[in-house]
This record gives sequence, structure tokens and C-alpha cells, in this order.
Amino acid sequence: MMKAGFIGCGNMGTAMVSGILKKGLLNKDEIIVSNLTEAGAARSREKLGVVVTMDNREVAAKSRILFLAVKPQFYEEVIKEIRDLLTEDQILVGIAPGKTLQWLEETCARSMKIVRLMPNTPAQVGEGMTSVCINEKVTEEDARQIRELTDSFGRTEFIPERLMDAAGAVSGSSPAYVFMFIEAMADAAVAQGMPRKQAYAFAAQAVLGSAKMVLETGMHPGELKDMVCSPAGTTIEGVRMLEKAGMRSAVFEALTACAEKGKRL
Ligand SMILES: NC(=O)c1ccc[n+]([C@@H]2O[C@H](COP(=O)([O-])OP(=O)(O)OC[C@H]3O[C@@H](n4cnc5c(N)ncnc54)[C@H](OP(=O)(O)O)[C@@H]3O)[C@@H](O)[C@H]2O)c1
Repeated sequence: MMKAGFIGCGNMGTAMVSGILKKGLLNKDEIIVSNLTEAGAARSREKLGVVVTMDNREVAAKSRILFLAVKPQFYEEVIKEIRDLLTEDQILVGIAPGKTLQWLEETCARSMKIVRLMPNTPAQVGEGMTSVCINEKVTEEDARQIRELTDSFGRTEFIPERLMDAAGAVSGSSPAYVFMFIEAMADAAVAQGMPRKQAYAFAAQAVLGSAKMVLETGMHPGELKDMVCSPAGTTIEGVRMLEKAGMRSAVFEALTACAEKGKRL
């Protein structure tokens, strides 16, 4: 039996498998993934070098920890395709917003070990943030093994299931918003004459460093912001413009819309 299997291996599956392999937690021959298309399978083979199939049932039959890494709208179809193969030794892991532990168990039509994860694509570079919740069949040892996997591609937090939609917004989807912020900052630097490649590097490093300061100093983000804003200086002028443009409110509304959509899926 393989240690881990992924039904579906697109952006998120690839990010997680890359992170696991980079850390050396599992070998390539201990992971099996499936894709829907020939093109997807070829991409997984070339990019990851793990065992690749186009047969979801093969992945289901061979994986001790089985990740469902397809889009939420395909969950039901995929579970129905494989559910007769599932055993009580396996752990089924859902990573889609809105697909609750109860929904997963009911769709499997059997009582089994079920885990819900909310990962994010920075897993690809070992800086993922993964939220986890588990059902009552998952033992402490199972949970330890899940944590070992998710820790291999970043940080892991076990949270109550009611917080999964919030986690989906603030860590699952938020890299998209951060990338938009980096892109916008770089555009502005380009407008000031900086070469584009350099502008992306400067903007990304500033975001990386700022995030590290929040995590490592434990200081309030507002206090850290105040440290950059000298009286009558340049930074506070930018802060004024961001407040005028409703940046905080835009971010608040974006994450709320994201979490609410998760509840409806
Ligand atoms: N992307 C993120 O940042 C992120 C973050 C947190 C959670 N998630 C969750 O992760 C899941 C996957 O998202 P994604 O962004 O990785 O999507 P994606 O890039 O579109 O990848 C979906 C994968 O599923 C495969 N697929 C589709 N139908 C299939 C089927 N019937 N059988 C087997 N494989 C099938 C596709 O195969 P081909 O490659 O052949 O097309 C593709 O590899 C979603 O539930 C999403 O909500 C994503």
C-alpha cells in the first residue's frame, strides 16, 4: 500500500506533493496521484515523478491516506466512484471548502476515518498554512501522521470545524489576494522606472519580511505599521491614500465573501 494518494493533482495537489517530496518525508514511489486528462497526467509525471494513473479507483485502493484534490463540484461523483473500495484502515482527506466531515461521511455511505484540511499553495515552497479538523474515528496516531505530512510543507493548526470557512478565506484563498497586492506594488514601482523583475523581487521580499515580523515579534500589526510611518514622512502619505481608497474595507469584504461562498458549496 502507498503511504499517500491524491485523486486529482492540479494546483493544490501539486503544491502539497512538491512540499512533501522537497522535505523528503516520503519517497516518490510512496505517493500515487490521478489526473483526469492525459495532459494532466503527463504534467504530474514530469513535475513530480511520483506514480501517476488516470484510474481514481487504483489510487483509492492503494492509498493509506487518500486526499481528494479535485474541485468541490466533482467531490460527489468521485466519492461515489471509489466508495466501495474504502476500508476502515484508510484515512479519507477532503480539502475542499464546504465539504464538511458529516457530508463526506454521508457521501461515503460508511463510517470511516475522515479528515478535513484547508491547505494553501505556499505548501509548494514549504511555507504552507494548513488547518485541520478530524472526525471521531481518527485516532491520535492518525492525527500525528496527518500533522507530520502537513508540517512537511509548512505550519499546521488543528481547529474546530466551525472555523474552516474562516480558515479558507484567511489562509486557503488569501495567497491570491497577497499576489494581487504584490503585483500592484510592483506595477507602481515599474511606473516609477524600476525594471519589472526587480520590482517583483522588492515587493515580494517586503511582504515576506513583514509577515516574518508579525510572526516572530508577536507585535500588533498596527504597531509595526506605526514604526514605518515617520511623522510628516513619505509612508504616512501612502497610508492616507490606502485609507481613502477603502483598502481595509475591501480586504474585509473580500474575505467575508470568500468565507460565505465556502459555506454555500
Ligand atoms: N488552489 C488552491 O489554492 C486551493 C487552496 C485550498 C484548497 N483547495 C482545494 O483543492 C481542490 C483542488 O483545487 P485545485 O486548485 O488544485 O484545482 P485544479 O488545479 O483545477 O486541479 C484539479 C485536479 O483534479 C483533476 N480532476 C478533475 N476531475 C477529476 C476526476 N474526475 N478524476 C480525477 N482527477 C480529476 C484535474 O485533472 P487534470 O490535471 O487532468 O485536469 C486536476 O489535476 C479543490 O477542492 C479546492 O477547493 C485549493
